[in-house]
Amino acid sequence: MGDMLYRPRRLRRTKLIRDMVAQTRINPDGLIQPYFVCEGKGIKQEIESMPGIYRESLDSLLKTISADYKLGIRRIMLFGIPDHKDSDASASSGDDSIGPLAVKALKDKYGDDLFVSADVCLCAYTDSGHCGLIKNDTVDNDSTLPALADMALSLADAGCDCLGPSDMMDGRVEAIREALEENGYSDTIIMAYSAKYSSSYYGPFRDACNSAPGKGDRKSYQMDWRNRREASVELMLDGEEGADIVMVKPALAYLDIISDFLKETELPVAAYNVSGEYTMVKLMAKENIVDEQAMVLENLTAITRAGADIILTYHLRDALKGGWLG
Ligand code: PBG
Ligand code: ZN
Repeated sequence: MGDMLYRPRRLRRTKLIRDMVAQTRINPDGLIQPYFVCEGKGIKQEIESMPGIYRESLDSLLKTISADYKLGIRRIMLFGIPDHKDSDASASSGDDSIGPLAVKALKDKYGDDLFVSADVCLCAYTDSGHCGLIKNDTVDNDSTLPALADMALSLADAGCDCLGPSDMMDGRVEAIREALEENGYSDTIIMAYSAKYSSSYYGPFRDACNSAPGKGDRKSYQMDWRNRREASVELMLDGEEGADIVMVKPALAYLDIISDFLKETELPVAAYNVSGEYTMVKLMAKENIVDEQAMVLENLTAITRAGADIILTYHLRDALKGGWLG
């Protein structure tokens, strides 16, 4: 007694002391809210497996985003859900494609006051539900690249600030970057889903987009969750191919990968707090098993502590509504 020099509890005694020595703070400016936009009019359906998240037509989306803008949301990620799916993913590009239509409406309304990013992937547009085009019964890498570049160009044409290729084809960042440069879109940001794992945590999202593969799984293009060093290979390639921001996805089960990225790149690192991670919290909170605010803050802080500069999260609206971010 009396001979203990180090007592870490001294710095935990009061809230003022704890806040003073807190080593991690969530950056509200680094948070991005995802949205699902479908074709049609007057549609706003809650996604069954994602309480509080909607699939909505453009007229409704504009109202939702206007309310969210008042809450403080300034950065968004858009996912288009087309009516028509076919083997060429033909609804994924062109001015009348749902993604570019939504981007154009938002950029016309908000200009640079809203940062609009959009997902670039074919899985919501192919009849197979795969992220690439099918050739000889496999998801064909090289014939998918021009389709992704076309989709990216249509979104850039509509004024999209940032493109998020999430397909995991080899060489897609380069294909998109070259198409952008050739067409004068040299300022369009590419936020590459660099280490995207083949994850069960995407389940609710596929329900939202009706994009589950009809046959097979995504293991021939998304990463195997047993691999850590392979993420560094993907990171290096995306950097060399012209990505501006690199992403790890999912976030919570992959904090080691986020931490590796921070050591291995000078680019901003994003993490996607995906649908399944969101739904786990929402369902537990609904059953009063956990405190939603505390759990969301713990999760977002952990992702930040691991090294993410940017977090895509479905929790953003609730966090702003509840004043959770201070
Ligand atoms: C499309 C895409 C997916 C997600 C983002 N872009 C689904 C998938 O690859 O199966 C998942 C997002 C989420 O789960 O919240 N490729
Ligand atoms: Zn996809």
